[in-house]
Amino acid sequence: MTSHLLALLLSLIAVIPPQRYGCTDIIGGRVVRPHSWPYMAAIQRKNLTECGGALVEKQWVLTAAHCQSNKSEVRVVLGAHQASIAEKEQQIFKVMHYFPNPQFDRSSKENDIMLLKLNGIAKLNKFVQLLPLPDSCEDIEPGTMCKVAGWGVTSSGKPSKYLRKTTLKIVGRKSCQSKYVNYTKITSNMLCAIGKNKFLKTDACQGDSGGPLICAGRYSGIVSFGKGCGRRDMPGVYTRLTEKYIDWIKKIISLHRDP
Ligand code: ARG
Repeated sequence: MTSHLLALLLSLIAVIPPQRYGCTDIIGGRVVRPHSWPYMAAIQRKNLTECGGALVEKQWVLTAAHCQSNKSEVRVVLGAHQASIAEKEQQIFKVMHYFPNPQFDRSSKENDIMLLKLNGIAKLNKFVQLLPLPDSCEDIEPGTMCKVAGWGVTSSGKPSKYLRKTTLKIVGRKSCQSKYVNYTKITSNMLCAIGKNKFLKTDACQGDSGGPLICAGRYSGIVSFGKGCGRRDMPGVYTRLTEKYIDWIKKIISLHRDP
């Protein structure tokens, strides 16, 4: 009898997931169903994913300005699940041109948005698709549920092999600003988002930057920065897709579109 109880107890312990602390998965998220985020782009150097992005036109990826690297050998992988190995669904490009927002400010992190022109045209199929820009640029209300995905650092401290996603909710700028005093100003061009459950830490992390934040089904923001990752009460900060940015994106694409 007691041995039965003991066995039951042991098996219960085995199914309780260990608590995780510190910088983490896309922290607290889970692996996506392969190719269920067909607009996700992995921006890599030497097969390491440094940033995410979203395919917004067949030759254009939208990401964060702080993802610009002056080094060559950058590649953009579309259609990936495991981005650092070859998969048959993948389409791989080089960056023909970087268009960081001219008002990007590295220290204040304002205007952290950039377009990449690829050196070829993506073929749209089941695995590679466009993420449409929002047609309304209204602000996103606190409490709105959002999702984000990336190949960034997980709770193990290492980047994820597979694309992972998590769910977040928008927090108001005032309360967000109170967490970022002495750090930076949270402007109306930014959105803050945190795990929906106080006890389950979840967040974007290093390597997830540039990836899309999708709120109530609409492309709403871009992973930009955070103080640490997955810290208690510490929201992550996203560039908000405001009207000003959408106009800038449309202008750049139409000016630099191949004939
Ligand atoms: N700046 C990071 C990157 O380059 C992303 C940070 C997001 N951090 C966060 N805690 N939400 O990948």
